[in-house]
Amino acid sequence: MSYPTVRPRRLRRTSRLREMVAETRLHPSRLVLPVFVVSGSGIERPIASMPGHAQRSVDKIVDVAHAAADAGIGGVIFFGIPDVKDEIGSAAWDPTGPVPRAIEAVGAAEPNLVTWADVCLCEYTSHGHCGPLRDGEVDNDAALPLLSMAAVSYAGAGADIVAPSDMMDGRVGAIRSALDDAGNTDTAICSYAVKYASAFYGPFRDAAESAPAFGDRRSYQMDPRNGREALREVELDIAEGADMIMVKPAGPYQDVIRYLRDRIDLPMAAYQVSGEFSMIEAAAANGWIDRDKAILESLTGIARAGADVILSYFALDAARILEELR
Ligand code: PBG
Repeated sequence: MSYPTVRPRRLRRTSRLREMVAETRLHPSRLVLPVFVVSGSGIERPIASMPGHAQRSVDKIVDVAHAAADAGIGGVIFFGIPDVKDEIGSAAWDPTGPVPRAIEAVGAAEPNLVTWADVCLCEYTSHGHCGPLRDGEVDNDAALPLLSMAAVSYAGAGADIVAPSDMMDGRVGAIRSALDDAGNTDTAICSYAVKYASAFYGPFRDAAESAPAFGDRRSYQMDPRNGREALREVELDIAEGADMIMVKPAGPYQDVIRYLRDRIDLPMAAYQVSGEFSMIEAAAANGWIDRDKAILESLTGIARAGADVILSYFALDAARILEELR
């Protein structure tokens, strides 16, 4: 008796079947929307290089928070643009600054959104570097107490997660002890442990007015050629008390996300950064790609690589697209 030869084949069938067996599933609850906060009220200043995004005063941020919650998005992450910048970035820990006020307002208006506060000094220093300078170089250890004060101020306003993005050595441990000393033992730390010196931050530096006035961030951000070094960064941050770790940018570093996913147990976030966003927007505006499909595919790739949480300027669009597909 002879049997037919079995040929390798893929599941083709119905879309319900494809849905059932899909390996990767995006869900709005795993998305975090970045927002830019300024002081004042009624302000919505569009960001030219980031269509649909704006610098907004707290009242307008609350409108965005309502939209995010209605769409089922998991959370929002706040970036502040202060009225005045100085050498050490002291507006970063002002409890009446735009970020603490936005955290309070959003926490009251939409308590189910997870509130994230980016912790860095570059938006707050007059020179645009992520820490204070000494002899023209960023002074790592002098930055630690300043970053800690900023984190405590955001935690005091009710942030669920503080996310240090400065890349100073030792900041996770410094922030953890400062939070605990201030009684914020439940505030989680998501460390931007793996942050590459990237060209894809360009539009963000317009949005946050944080381009370095001289030099670049290559002395404290990671070299794009290095993947294994990411594990070292992550292990140090875990030892210092990080609850979650982040890889940034996301798309060009999917191999790094996968490498880490296979080696660490903590929840992992990935940040689809401003340049990744703006490239898709620009191509779509020219009619060169299908915007919705490109949004979904770019986010699916990041999720498939192993990210649990994705920070994306497309969070609202992605939630709409996923809803339309249901
Ligand atoms: C630093 C910070 C940056 C981003 C998030 N946090 C910019 C930088 O390192 O220059 C970039 C995010 C993006 O490009 O969307 N505070």
